[in-house]
Amino acid sequence: MIANGWGGSQKDLLYDLHRSLGAVLILILVLRLFYRLANPPLPLPNDIPAMQQRAANMTHWSLYALLIAEPFLGWAATSAYPAAVTVFGWFKLPSIWPVNSALSELLFSVHRWIAFAIAFLVVAHIAAALYHHFVRKDRMLMRMVTG
Ligand code: HEM
Ligand code: HEM
Repeated sequence: MIANGWGGSQKDLLYDLHRSLGAVLILILVLRLFYRLANPPLPLPNDIPAMQQRAANMTHWSLYALLIAEPFLGWAATSAYPAAVTVFGWFKLPSIWPVNSALSELLFSVHRWIAFAIAFLVVAHIAAALYHHFVRKDRMLMRMVTG
């Protein structure tokens, strides 16, 4: 997508920015996941139907799983390509996969599908948050602030 012409001379910069942000996300997500496992949130209120509680749990854990898998996939695909993963021009991450251009192509196509899946879940997730706030008028959004 980034490679489709419109990037022009900014293309390499955009790739580097994409990889740098993705690499930082790995750290943030792993820290967040440990924090979350050590500090479970309050249970959801009883007036939320069991189906919706299950849907919310599935969406949240799928988001965690995909958000963590995605940057590792990008990293592995880039290693197999092969290209360097430089983090904000500061240091290079090691290669985590031997050079294999066919595999790199496959991993990038999985990378793209996972990106679509994340986008889909995020849209559903935001729609659910808006539904709670404006239709059900409950305090689901406020749980993020006050627990
Ligand atoms: C959560 C983090 C990430 C998300 C959501 C994400 C998402 C995406 C998306 C939407 C694309 C465009 C796919 C397309 O061309 O159709 C892409 C491409 C790409 N990503 Fe990521 N990415 C992430 C992390 C990373 C990381 C950490 C790396 C490398 C270390 C990486 C390397 C690449 C590369 C090189 C491409 C271009 C692939 C190509 O042109 O075929 N990504 N990524
Ligand atoms: C307008 C944007 C968003 C709103 C209003 C929103 C709102 C919320 C709310 C109300 C919760 C539930 C908190 C609770 O259980 O009390 C939540 C949890 C969560 N959100 Fe969002 N969210 C937004 C965007 C996002 C995005 C973009 C992502 C990921 C890319 C995301 C990932 C998650 C995850 C993983 C959880 C589960 C947290 C946990 O239980 O550990 N959210 N969000």
